[in-house]
This record gives sequence, structure tokens and C-alpha cells, in this order.
Amino acid sequence: MTLDLEAKKTLLRKIPHGLFICGVREGNDVNGFTASWVTQGSFEPPLVVMAVKADGSSHGIIKRTRRFSLNVLRADQKDLAAVFFKPQKALGGRFETAPFKFGELGLPILEDCIGGVECELIGEVVHGDHTVFVGQVKAAHLNEDSEALNLSSTGWNYGG
Ligand SMILES: Cc1cc2nc3c(=O)[nH]c(=O)nc-3n(C[C@H](O)[C@H](O)[C@H](O)COP(=O)(O)O)c2cc1C
Repeated sequence: MTLDLEAKKTLLRKIPHGLFICGVREGNDVNGFTASWVTQGSFEPPLVVMAVKADGSSHGIIKRTRRFSLNVLRADQKDLAAVFFKPQKALGGRFETAPFKFGELGLPILEDCIGGVECELIGEVVHGDHTVFVGQVKAAHLNEDSEALNLSSTGWNYGG
């Protein structure tokens, strides 16, 4: 069987995605990156599923610390999403333009966004160029309930 690569790309890019800032922390090191491969995985317990690039700097931090936060961006925060996927001079540098506080699990929660959840890692699928992490939501911080940023509104693609 031969996989039709163009059809595969077109179809997989139809999967709707939000845009989030994933936050990680290991000791004094804090980092964050833009993530779109995110979904809910269970009501009870509340689980979220996120695929993380295996060669990114945050991947190892999530594996070692077994926790991560997910910050939900407002519809008008496309520029901030761009800051968090571009290369940075030093780990955590992206947060220079985005004030944050530490939540109950010690993870970065952006002060200017819809809000964020803090998760404990309960499972992972290690296969391919991204690792699928499953996190249980342990804390939730709501700043304001407004419209969230969606990948389709940005003209960017991550997938296919
Ligand atoms: C629109 C868009 C969506 C992205 N979604 C993800 C994602 O779901 N998972 C991921 O690991 N990287 C994703 N990335 C790439 C990371 O944001 C990027 O590789 C970042 O530099 C990783 O940071 P780090 O190496 O500091 O962890 C996305 C990039 C873009 C442009």
C-alpha cells in the first residue's frame, strides 16, 4: 500500500487546532513554546493530550519534571504566539515580552491571556518525531473568558 502524501497532508491539515503557550520549569529554568497539537482526553479525571517535538528544549524538561502548563491565548494574541515559536537567545527568553506568575504546581501562567492549567504527566507515547504527553489537570487559573486564538485564523500551518 502506498500512502498518498499530498492527500494525507491536505486531510491532516483539516484537523482544527487552538494555539497555546506550554510552560515548563526545572529549578530556576523556565521555558515556554507555542503548541497547537493539544486536545482534551478525559472528563474524569480531567486529562489533556499534547504532542511535543522530541528535539525541542522543553521536551526533556517535561520528561524529567513530569509536569507542564498550558496557557490559552486570546483571539488577538497572534503576535505572542509568534514570539513563542521563534528561536530565542537563551532558554526562557521568550517570557521577556510576556509577564507570568508561578501557579500552584510552580509552572508559568501568563498574566495576559485567557488563563492556564497546570498538569501532572500521567502518560506518554514515545514514537516518531513528537512525543504524545498526557497530563492530568491539577490547577486552573481563569483571567478572563473570551474568544480563543485558533490556528486557522493565523494563516500558519503546523501539521500534515
Ligand atoms: C503554528 C505552530 C504550532 C506549533 N505547535 C507545536 C506543537 O503542538 N508541539 C510542538 O512541540 N511544537 C510546536 N510548534 C513548534 C514549537 O513552538 C517550536 O519548535 C519551539 O521553538 C519549541 O521551543 P523549545 O525548543 O524552546 O521547547 C509549533 C510551531 C508553530 C509555528
